[in-house]
Amino acid sequence: MSALSNKVAIITGASSGIGYATAKLFAREGASVVVAARRQLELDALVKEITQAGGHAVALTGDVKDEAFAKALVELAIDRFGGLDVAFNNAGTMGDMGATPDVLLSSWEDTIKTNLTSAFLCAKYQLPAMLKRAGVTPMGFNTWQAL
Ligand SMILES: NC(=O)c1ccc[n+]([C@@H]2O[C@H](COP(=O)([O-])OP(=O)(O)OC[C@H]3O[C@@H](n4cnc5c(N)ncnc54)[C@H](OP(=O)(O)O)[C@@H]3O)[C@@H](O)[C@H]2O)c1
Repeated sequence: MSALSNKVAIITGASSGIGYATAKLFAREGASVVVAARRQLELDALVKEITQAGGHAVALTGDVKDEAFAKALVELAIDRFGGLDVAFNNAGTMGDMGATPDVLLSSWEDTIKTNLTSAFLCAKYQLPAMLKRAGVTPMGFNTWQAL
């Protein structure tokens, strides 16, 4: 039995590359996967591929820089699969490539938000759900007492 059997995982950046391959691997190993990215068609193809192979997958499109999207992904994992065990916050970008003097601040900030802030936002909503599933009740932080 795989360590991922009957687990529920969120995978961001699942519309291509590493995230796409990871979602298929996790599903093959027995996890139910919530796959996320901005491109709907690619996510639909991934869900179809997984479900046709006998796995369980659901997709949600959105931008990982959006806090509401991070929250919605966890809510979907709970609604569809009963909770959350694993998170692979993989979505990312190389950003605009160029010599530093030529890079716009807006481009830099977008890259930081996509690669770094998104992981914080996802973890902010994933951690309480994962700890609840694991039977752990953290104390001392007001925001966690809703667990
Ligand atoms: N491949 C490598 O050698 C390598 C090396 C080091 C680090 N990494 C990192 O590993 C991760 C995956 O790399 P990869 O090679 O698989 O890249 P990729 O094929 O370009 O995949 C990036 C994924 O992130 C998603 N994404 C990007 N911006 C997003 C946003 N704002 N909101 C939601 N989803 C977003 C993309 O989907 P949409 O465009 O559909 O939104 C796509 O699914 C990235 O974080 C990358 O920086 C890769």
